[in-house]
Amino acid sequence: MPLPLSYGPVGLRPIRVRDWRDLQAVTAANRSWLAPWEASLPSPGVPVDIRGGIRILLSQMRQGLGIPLVMEFEGRLVGQLNVSSIQRGSISSAMVGYWIAQEFAGRSITPTAVALATDYMFRECGLHRVEICIRPENAASLRVVDKLGFRFEGAHRGFLHIAGRWANHYEFALLSTDVAGGVLRRYVEGRVPADACVIPDWAASLL
Ligand SMILES: CC(C)(COP(=O)(O)OP(=O)(O)OC[C@H]1O[C@@H](n2cnc3c(N)ncnc32)[C@H](O)[C@@H]1OP(=O)(O)O)[C@@H](O)C(=O)NCCC(=O)NCCS
Repeated sequence: MPLPLSYGPVGLRPIRVRDWRDLQAVTAANRSWLAPWEASLPSPGVPVDIRGGIRILLSQMRQGLGIPLVMEFEGRLVGQLNVSSIQRGSISSAMVGYWIAQEFAGRSITPTAVALATDYMFRECGLHRVEICIRPENAASLRVVDKLGFRFEGAHRGFLHIAGRWANHYEFALLSTDVAGGVLRRYVEGRVPADACVIPDWAASLL
């Protein structure tokens, strides 16, 4: 299962430096849609450099630390899916983050892409665990992990600098042993257990 990956009109491929123009156009057109959920830097005033950012992601990929991907719909770049914090050996885990252009939201493109990427990490990269961290206020993103049956595992205070301040996050994870037949297959066949991704009532008390 080499890259790129696809299912129907949804594609996932490694980012290229020449994607910077498309990414700049899509992120500029989606400024207010993305801003509340966008990672920021604790030191203010650092200019955003999309080309430089892509080069950093590609350098991390060469070091085996991440897999930076773009999401496509019918061949058009519509968002990013970034695999980061890859750890091998006794941990064998990675984290996933994502965003999609507002115009393409609500078509289950992101859950499909996350399923493709997670199967890739389990089957091709030999990883055992995939984590996704989400702000408790991000209802749309919580639906993504819910649709795929990621399990709630806990809460992190001040986990990530988002939109100018340290933001609390819930953590969700899937293990390769949770989905023997594959994440995508379980999702498209409608076999994700309804209660797989329950956020307990006491979750907020952890923050
Ligand atoms: C979170 C996000 C990636 C979900 O992607 P997606 O491809 O739209 O995922 P889905 O199609 O499965 O939609 C998930 C939920 O979003 C909500 N949604 C759908 N269309 C929407 C729209 N146009 N505007 C706002 N929310 C919408 C719905 O609640 C939907 O759940 P449902 O399918 O049960 O109705 C996307 O909303 C996004 O990029 N948001 C801004 C950036 C962000 O939050 N990134 C994640 C940080 S953890």
